[in-house]
Amino acid sequence: MRGEGAYGYEQLADSNLKLPAGAEMLWYIIGNISHMSDNTPQIRETGDGSHTLWLAGMQESYHSMHGAITESKHVFIHHGLDYFRSLNNTGEIRVLEVGFGTGLNALLTCQYSQDLKQRIKYTTLEPFPLDWNLAARMNYGDLLEHPQISFWFKELHITSWGQIEWLNPYFSILKKQETIQDHNSAEHYDICFFDAFAPGKQPDIWDLKVLEMVKRMLVGQGLIVSYCAQGQFKRDLRTLGFKVESLPGPPGKKEMTRAMLCS
Ligand SMILES: C[S@@+](CC[C@H](N)C(=O)[O-])C[C@H]1O[C@@H](n2cnc3c(N)ncnc32)[C@H](O)[C@@H]1O
Repeated sequence: MRGEGAYGYEQLADSNLKLPAGAEMLWYIIGNISHMSDNTPQIRETGDGSHTLWLAGMQESYHSMHGAITESKHVFIHHGLDYFRSLNNTGEIRVLEVGFGTGLNALLTCQYSQDLKQRIKYTTLEPFPLDWNLAARMNYGDLLEHPQISFWFKELHITSWGQIEWLNPYFSILKKQETIQDHNSAEHYDICFFDAFAPGKQPDIWDLKVLEMVKRMLVGQGLIVSYCAQGQFKRDLRTLGFKVESLPGPPGKKEMTRAMLCS
């Protein structure tokens, strides 16, 4: 389950095998354990009734099995966007998301921007985009209450990669089909939604060098928010000079992490 150690990844990561970097690593590892089971994402219902995707070969889900929508709202909307707004009176919030995945965080952020009339410029990275035919079967449109929610969800998925699109007067999105390791942007961001697969599954993404890159892209009281509460992750953030908080996690998870840039 997400965030919980499972076989395969840790054993490979702890071994002395020389692994390729970046996106190749995910497929390298999946390839190595592909004999165990199917790697096609499967839709699963989580504790709050909302869907997530399950990768059987990786033994990993895209969200908490205790509740996908509940987790996204708790970690990224409440402890990310709400908190940032409580400290900053800003016309526009610039978000960088690591891992677009199902688009759930983007969808909730789009709704948030419309509800609060808050301009949000959303940049999201995803090396392995999902097929819309799969995403279309997920139930976020049925569970989230907004007349435009299904329209937004489809637009989020079918909109072109590498092009800025406006989904409502307050929300623009730029989807980039690339890894965080390759995201060499001159752009600046206020909040990073760090929503990669768990460190035990994809250790290269949680590397100090990657976190340092993210730090360089943040400005002001820039934040990194993540469902992950791993000790090494928090130590690395402190090493980089962030003020790190361990906050109560969503259902099923004791803690989550929020780190603020200190000037
Ligand atoms: C935990 S899921 C993300 C969940 C997503 N935020 C959502 O709302 O559905 C992790 C995502 O990160 C993507 N990913 C894998 N390697 C990556 C990399 N090197 N850089 C950025 N994203 C990556 C995966 O393909 C997957 O979609």
